[in-house]
Amino acid sequence: MKYSALKGIQDILPPDIHIWQKVESTALTIFRKYGFQEIRIPIIESTDIFIRSIGETTDIVEKEMYTFPDKAGRSITMRPEGTAPAVRCYVEHHLYNLPSPQKFFYSGPMFRYERPQKGRFRQFYQIGVEAFGISQPSMDAEIIVMLRNLLEGIGLKEVNFELNSIGCDKCRPDYRNALLNFFKSRLSDFCPDCQRRYELNPLRILDCKVERCIELRQGAPLVTDHLCSECREHFDELIFRLQTLKIPYTLNPNLVRGLDYYTRTAFEVTSEHLGAQKAVAAGGRYDKLVEEFGGPQTPAIGFALGMERIVTLLKENWTEEHPAPKVFIATIGREAEIEGFRIAEDIRAKGFWVEPNYGGASLKSQLRKADRIGAEFAFIIGENELKAGKVQWKNLKKSEQGEAEIKDILTLLT
Ligand code: HAM
Repeated sequence: MKYSALKGIQDILPPDIHIWQKVESTALTIFRKYGFQEIRIPIIESTDIFIRSIGETTDIVEKEMYTFPDKAGRSITMRPEGTAPAVRCYVEHHLYNLPSPQKFFYSGPMFRYERPQKGRFRQFYQIGVEAFGISQPSMDAEIIVMLRNLLEGIGLKEVNFELNSIGCDKCRPDYRNALLNFFKSRLSDFCPDCQRRYELNPLRILDCKVERCIELRQGAPLVTDHLCSECREHFDELIFRLQTLKIPYTLNPNLVRGLDYYTRTAFEVTSEHLGAQKAVAAGGRYDKLVEEFGGPQTPAIGFALGMERIVTLLKENWTEEHPAPKVFIATIGREAEIEGFRIAEDIRAKGFWVEPNYGGASLKSQLRKADRIGAEFAFIIGENELKAGKVQWKNLKKSEQGEAEIKDILTLLT
């Protein structure tokens, strides 16, 4: 019986993993400078958490959640995203009692039962950040700048920041009515999902991916024409802040996110090098969610980036060498092999990657292996070297070779 990973779920192997680690370590360095601290949130949560926050009529909740009953019959869902668990965590641990803002980041796998295609997986990885407690647009600007610095830091420059405001509880009803009026006369031409959404949540029609619905919604009223004065001011100030920081952006009044919890600022970072699934990161404000989860009124904003899509982009122009051993120690005979193991420990203690001979192989095949794994040096220890306390060394990158006292070999490496 041969097994393979489930559809839409992939293994991540070396050398790709080195690109993943580079993104993760750059994120860590940058987040630290802005005061974002790591939280580790669970992979499974109560299903309600996602239904309440992401919204009953969203694609994620309607079609894409990995939901199952546990042995006690409770409904459990494998997290499709990290914001709802982060808010649950913030409220559960009363983190609102700590000085504001509280800024967190998390990373790990998310699960959505989507139709797998290029850039779209059923298990995918996100790095996400959430900042709690600040309603001012300066926080929106800070996290957008931080995201930009992160993308630049990993070498992604050709990305587009798309920006919108999707209003608040105060102005949304007015916009909702404008949409209902617009869709009314052509409702029967929309897909069955959109017809249902018309009553329940007409904003979702703007997010439908069906070709016909996309055509039918051409000319629909724009949310930015229906913002209340506070939302308008917030959005204008954010734009002003981005301009003062010289952050390029594109206004996209059609950007509505596929999750219901957003208020005001919504943004997506896209790349033209990715095909249909072109969002590498996305986020926005969710000023009502903490309250809905039973906490005090607490504004919040965050984003998440999609690791697979970022790594795909980085792979195209990856020039950094993938890590390889500094030294391969080839040995002839049992005594030399034991000495090789000892020397390997000494060299490792100095911080280098060393591969020893584990026994058995001929010298020729050991040297072939040293070459194949990309080792910089091969040290050779045979009977004579053992007696003389020496090693033969070869620099495989420079085709140089020589002999050195065992006590001097570390100087060869630096
Ligand atoms: P999202 O737009 O659903 O937002 O996902 C964020 C990013 O995750 C996307 O831009 C994309 O790069 C990646 N992504 C989403 N679905 C998939 C998939 N099936 N396969 C591969 N990559 C995918 C959120 O998840 C929000 N929680 C972001 C946020 C944080 N908003 C506020 N705070």
